Amino acid sequence: MSRTRCDQTPAWGALQSAFDATGRAFDVRTAFATDPQRFETFSQSAPLVFADLSKNRIDAATEALLLALAQQTGLAAHRDAMFAGDKINTTEGRQVMHWLLRNPPLALMNKARQALQNVASELSAVHATLDAMLAYAEAVRADDGITDVVNIGIGGSDLGPQMAVLALDEFVLPGKRFHFVSNVDGHELAAVLRKVQPEHTLFLVASKTFTTIETMTNAHSAKAWFEAQGGTDIARHFAALTTNVAAANAFGISTCFGFWDWVGGRYSVWSAIGLPLAMAIGAQGFREFLAGAHAMDEHFRTAPLERNLPIRLGLLDVWYRNFHGFTSRSVAPYHAALKRYPAYLQQLEMESNGKRVDAQGQALPYATSPVVWGEPGTNGQHAYFQMLHQGTDVVPVEFVAVKTPKHSLPGHHTLLLANAVAQAQALMQGKADQGGHKHFTGNRPSTFLLLDDLSPASLGALIALQEHRVFVSGSVWGINSFDQWGVELGKVLAKEVDVRLGSGDFSALDGSTAGLLTRLRNDSPCTGTAVSH
Ligand code: F6P
Repeated sequence: MSRTRCDQTPAWGALQSAFDATGRAFDVRTAFATDPQRFETFSQSAPLVFADLSKNRIDAATEALLLALAQQTGLAAHRDAMFAGDKINTTEGRQVMHWLLRNPPLALMNKARQALQNVASELSAVHATLDAMLAYAEAVRADDGITDVVNIGIGGSDLGPQMAVLALDEFVLPGKRFHFVSNVDGHELAAVLRKVQPEHTLFLVASKTFTTIETMTNAHSAKAWFEAQGGTDIARHFAALTTNVAAANAFGISTCFGFWDWVGGRYSVWSAIGLPLAMAIGAQGFREFLAGAHAMDEHFRTAPLERNLPIRLGLLDVWYRNFHGFTSRSVAPYHAALKRYPAYLQQLEMESNGKRVDAQGQALPYATSPVVWGEPGTNGQHAYFQMLHQGTDVVPVEFVAVKTPKHSLPGHHTLLLANAVAQAQALMQGKADQGGHKHFTGNRPSTFLLLDDLSPASLGALIALQEHRVFVSGSVWGINSFDQWGVELGKVLAKEVDVRLGSGDFSALDGSTAGLLTRLRNDSPCTGTAVSH
């Protein structure tokens, strides 16, 4: 499989020329006025997701050039290499097969997918583990003695399951409470421990590596708390979700659900890391979650590039980041249950594509990952939408809305949907005003993703869509989206600083670090005090 870096393709130069000629001044309002078919051209259905891209600064000629860019960089071959089980995570020498976790068993697949034969043994291991994990999830659901499930994990071992359990709250089994402890800040664990009783609690220690300091610290404290309360049955009250079963056993946990090094942490909600979700929504719900994602995998794998939603979104990301120079993307889920969706997407995009070198380690002359941020609507409207409408930066917004609510409170849902649509409309239309302060420039781009309902299947499809769009931009940028060396330095230094805080040896440190540590170790307060009136 050969990949060509985007800046070494003819399409890259052609895109720059197109941007200089028409792209910079492109006005979405004019585009709608001159093309009655614009909505049809720039909207599409994908499995369980409808997408309107028509309010973006893009026309057919630009999209054709972006598709040429995809072809010239070898995007399709790179995608196919991922689905063939090739070791495309080159810096770690690993396959990238989170998609296999949602693949039906080989026996259920048609002839075309018999091509999966080269990962057949992995697929049967996936299903054996899935069956075991779902049987355990059902047993815990049926066990009235367990009222509280505490997931201890961080990063991908927290964000995915937490986001999904919250998103699918309407499907969660009544009578069970789910808690997520990620931060090494003891306040978080202490707050949960205040609410639970040892004999009714199941701790899930979720860590791909089973070495992450935050998770290990929390797991040790949870175990110490459990034993201090008289708890003895670790096998009943602790389970581990990890690729490192030996370390979990050494920790004293015998109930383990494994996965594999070819599942990246931020892509692991489909694996044993999804166990809290399976316990919350049940085995059938979890299988629907996987099925929704698999439908999106098949769309990404087989749809023609020009009607392939992850490809269209990923290429738009490249257009905005590298030609328009937009530095961030705001995500606005118009559903309160999607409150952790922006945080989830932050790790997915920024840990995958926040890279300054290509897959060969050469420094890149162009920008990669945007900053991804956001809050559920309508809350965001009363916080930072001011800046989206009238700030000096243009920030593309990606709305997500859900057509059918799960509640029956009159009026709420239409008002919610009206707000989502109106915000996208306002960003595009703008409003003229002589005085300046009330002037909206408009022409501010947005994408609108629409789900029929928020269900395990549609959430699975939405998340797989996001995974694949991140793959697309990362592939075009020529980077390895599947490693995360950038988190290592801070981890190493934190250990050293921890030792120095204990010892008081601040020799050979920079002035700022030594100054802060001195203040943290001193008995005297760091600040003055407020005088009460
Ligand atoms: O901080 C980086 C990271 O390795 C993430 O990629 C990962 O999701 C998280 O830490 C947690 O890792 P683990 O599941 O091994 O505890």
